Order: sequence, then structure tokens, then C-alpha cells
Amino acid sequence: MRTIESLGDLKGKRVLVRSDFNVPLDGDKITDDGRIRAALPTLQKLLDEGAKVIVMAHLGRPKGEVKPEFSLAPVAKRLGELVDAPVKLAKDITGESAKEEAANLEDGEILLLENVRFDPRETSKDDAEREEFASELAELADLFVSDGFGVVHRKQTSVYDIAQKLPSASGLLVLKEIESLSKATDNPERPYAVVLGGSKVSDKLGVIANLLKKADMLLIGGGMAFTFLKAQGLEVGKSLLEEDQLDTVKGYIEEAKERGVDLVLPVDVVVAPEFAKDATPTVVAADEIPADQMGLDIGPKSQELYVSKIAAAKTVAWNGPMGVFEFPAFAGGTKAVAGALSEGDAFSVVGGGDSAAAVRLLDFDESTFSHISTGGGASLELLEGKTLPGIAVLED
Ligand code: 3PG
Repeated sequence: MRTIESLGDLKGKRVLVRSDFNVPLDGDKITDDGRIRAALPTLQKLLDEGAKVIVMAHLGRPKGEVKPEFSLAPVAKRLGELVDAPVKLAKDITGESAKEEAANLEDGEILLLENVRFDPRETSKDDAEREEFASELAELADLFVSDGFGVVHRKQTSVYDIAQKLPSASGLLVLKEIESLSKATDNPERPYAVVLGGSKVSDKLGVIANLLKKADMLLIGGGMAFTFLKAQGLEVGKSLLEEDQLDTVKGYIEEAKERGVDLVLPVDVVVAPEFAKDATPTVVAADEIPADQMGLDIGPKSQELYVSKIAAAKTVAWNGPMGVFEFPAFAGGTKAVAGALSEGDAFSVVGGGDSAAAVRLLDFDESTFSHISTGGGASLELLEGKTLPGIAVLED
């Protein structure tokens, strides 16, 4: 992949950078600034080399309309606190404000454009519309650096089309993400364990199909585990269940057996009468889930089992929480898995917005994991073995 070095001398050059600043917000308060911090090395490098840096990013899914609640203003403020440079926020993306600010930008300054998804052309399926928007963006700068790893799976203007309009290269975050994730996906040191959680099996179908061919162990938790338990003939009460995936999941269970993949499912579950922070938790065996209860976490015996499997692995990829970790009573499974990765010697990769957020929310030391990805869908698609448009476009 082309690197920043391939762009030559950056002094005085306007460099347009795509970052992923899609951070969780509570009102205008950023609750996890991990993605902003992950963007800093590239921005700092460009500033140190004397570039004028113009950053574009999205926040949420405003669907092509200017919606103040999706403004990047809170991000501009936080970025200004974290980076050693003045940060200005343009009022638009390629309009008068952006053009004027970009033209007046000094060496070593950062200009953040407003949310690129305020323009419907950003996510348009029409190539010509995206290309037109890319041409407008390209007029603001001399060079393009792609560093928003979390969006490289999207064929969108600020990720894909712009890379064809300007001399372009991958940023340091994108390089680091690809290097770490491919250690787990291409040639993992074995045994290779993958821990998958989150609510929906349907979101993870592709990745499961691919991992059955690659992993030695597949540990399933979170809401998706109940579709697996049901596929094995167990009753799951009011737990999350995707009836329409039962046949596919039965196929996976068969395939795991044939291929000798150790498919590990919860042996006990923390259940509650409803999805609520203060709901009363009870531990039951996986084959004794009462009809009026729902599973909200894996139980203590499952935690022990998963921890022992992780301890036996040399490479572990983890994507998706084991339970409703935002509610303390149902955070035990996620904590146990995070703890096993953090304490173990295996090469450990945490992917997916939720698992990465869980690591930080549950106060784990991020440096004890080999790699915490900033990508949700992007890291999942890499695990799935897909070619990502935002990466392919940066290849030589
Ligand atoms: C993410 O949050 O995974 C990325 O920022 C991509 O966002 P999207 O799913 O809205 O494209």
C-alpha cells in the first residue's frame, strides 16, 4: 500500500485526510474519544512535516441532510484539546466557508470540514454523483491521506472516489490496523481462537462462514448465542432469537463438527425478566432458561470455560460483547473475556466498536492488548476475508 512517504515533500502542501471521528455522543459530550486519539499520530506527522492539514470525517448517519445534532463541533473541540495545533471547523464541506478557510490555512494548522454525510453525494450509489463531490473536495487540497480505518469498507466519496482524484496514500492508523488484523487473519499462530458476540447472528454470517475454515476454536456469546442454543434444540425463553437464521446456524454447527473446529457455546446464562439495568439477575443452566426470562449475559461456568479456551490459544480475535456490559449486573462475561485477553500471552486483537468501547468502559489497560481496532464493520469484513474498497484503492 502507498505510504505517506510516497507523497514526497509535504512542506506547505494542503493534505486532505479522511479520519473516522464517528464517536459516541451523549448530547454534545463525547463518551469515548478513542477514535480521535487513534487519528493523532498521522495528523501530528503531517503537521510536523509542515503540511496544512484538512480533515474530513462523518458523524452518525444524517442521510444527506444538514442536521445540527450530527455536527462535528464537539469533535473539533476535543481534537483541539488533544493535538498540538490550532483546529478550525468549517461551516460546510465544499462550500464558501470550507474554500475560504482552506485557502487561508497556515502551515501546521488543522481545518476540519463539517460532517461529510451532510452532503447526499457522499454515500450515493451513483458513481457520477460521488465523483462530482470528489472533484469539489479535491479542489481544496494537493494530496490525500486515507486514515479513517473504520470506514474503509464503505465505497463512499471521502474514502474511495477522492483517492482517485488526488495523489493518495494510507495513513499510519490504516497501516497499523491492516498489519495487526492480517496477523490474525492471514497466517495466525495456532491455536487460533475467535470470540464472537453481539446481538445478531445475521450481522456475523459472513464472518462465521469464513472463520469455520480458518479458526481452531469459535467461542460464541452475546445475544447471538441464543440462536445457536435454539438450533441445538434448547429453549431460550424471551432471549434474542433469529428464527430465520436457525437453519443456517444448524449448518454451521454441522460444518464445525466436520472440520474439527471447537465451537463453544454458553453452558450457563445470566437471565432476567426484562432488559433493564435494575432487572434481577439469576444464573441458570443453558438448558434450563425459563420461558418468562431472557438471557443477558453468559454465566460464571461459561466464563471459566471461555477463559480456559482463550488461555490455550496463541492468537485470539474478539468481536462483540458477551452480554449487556453497559449494565453492571450483566457485564461479567464481557469482563471475563477482556480479562483473559488482557492477561494472556496470545496475540490479541479486539475488533468492533462495542468490544473496544467495553475494554475502555470496564477500565482495562489498553496497552495490555496487542491491538484494539477502531473499526467495527471494517474489522469484521477483514476477518471475513473481504476486499475493502478503501484499501484496494490505495494499493499500487
Ligand atoms: C463505524 O462506526 O463503524 C464507522 O464509522 C462506519 O460508520 P457507518 O457504519 O455509519 O458507515
